[in-house]
Amino acid sequence: MTADVSRDGVVLIGCGRLGSAMLEGWLATGAVAGSDLIILSPSEKPAAEAARGRGARINPPLDALRQAKTVVLAVKPAMWRDALTPLVSYLNHEVIIVSVMAGVRSEDVFNVSGRPVARVMPTTAVAQAQGVAAIWSDDAWALETAKALFEPVADVAPLDDEALMDAATAVAGSAPAFIYAFVQGLADAGVAQGLSPEAAARLARGALRSAGAGLETGEGLDALIARIASPGGTTRAGLDAMADGGDLTRAAETAVSAAVARARSL
Ligand SMILES: NC(=O)c1ccc[n+]([C@@H]2O[C@H](COP(=O)([O-])OP(=O)(O)OC[C@H]3O[C@@H](n4cnc5c(N)ncnc54)[C@H](OP(=O)(O)O)[C@@H]3O)[C@@H](O)[C@H]2O)c1
Repeated sequence: MTADVSRDGVVLIGCGRLGSAMLEGWLATGAVAGSDLIILSPSEKPAAEAARGRGARINPPLDALRQAKTVVLAVKPAMWRDALTPLVSYLNHEVIIVSVMAGVRSEDVFNVSGRPVARVMPTTAVAQAQGVAAIWSDDAWALETAKALFEPVADVAPLDDEALMDAATAVAGSAPAFIYAFVQGLADAGVAQGLSPEAAARLARGALRSAGAGLETGEGLDALIARIASPGGTTRAGLDAMADGGDLTRAAETAVSAAVARARSL
């Protein structure tokens, strides 16, 4: 069963970094037509203005929400009750709430909205239809609705349990920043070896792009590593040095467990 969100009214609450990225991806792929979108945003945003040009309504009178089938909640976790509560009486009973917020339990959103909730944890690369999105709901229709909304813009990974959402947030949502930080570290190490900062930054960014291109082959990570690291070669020497003493594993584990702990404390 596939939910046909393209004909449903989609309300986006919050048009910040992630809200804008989702808008861009949906409009670029046609996953949601501009005329099916309502955007609620306290301030003017370029992505919302671009969507307006495609027929989206920005901050219309709240009666317009009665046509909505899906409400995507994309405000900061500390803000969501204030954002959602005044809207609930305008929502029809079949509405699905899709929350992309880190660390906010679906039960809490259900208790305020009284509507089925799906949780999705996407990356901002949904803007380029290259995102990844962990997804969970205990309601089958909410799950299908969220999948239909995100499959055109992300690789969607369903989770078995909502409790795994925090781990998925760390491994997918936060991880691009972890990887950028590592690549920055590589560039700094290149400078320590005599490269100019410009050359090191350019080479490190290029390495990240090349790593991304490797993923496009569909091969597993071990196979991709094996392609580059020939026995006794320079890459193998670097990999062995990273593995020695477990520093790399420890850095990854520390980053993921700190992100999970932070999500649980929100
Ligand atoms: N950024 C990411 O990579 C990412 C990834 C996964 C999940 N998330 C989740 O996505 C959510 C949003 O994150 P973000 O990075 O996009 O934050 P953000 O850039 O701060 O965006 C939040 C937006 O919410 C708007 N807002 C505040 N009160 C509102 C209200 N009452 N009605 C409608 N909009 C309201 C703000 O508007 P103003 O700008 O006008 O104040 C702001 O633009 C968070 O819960 C976060 O956990 C983010």
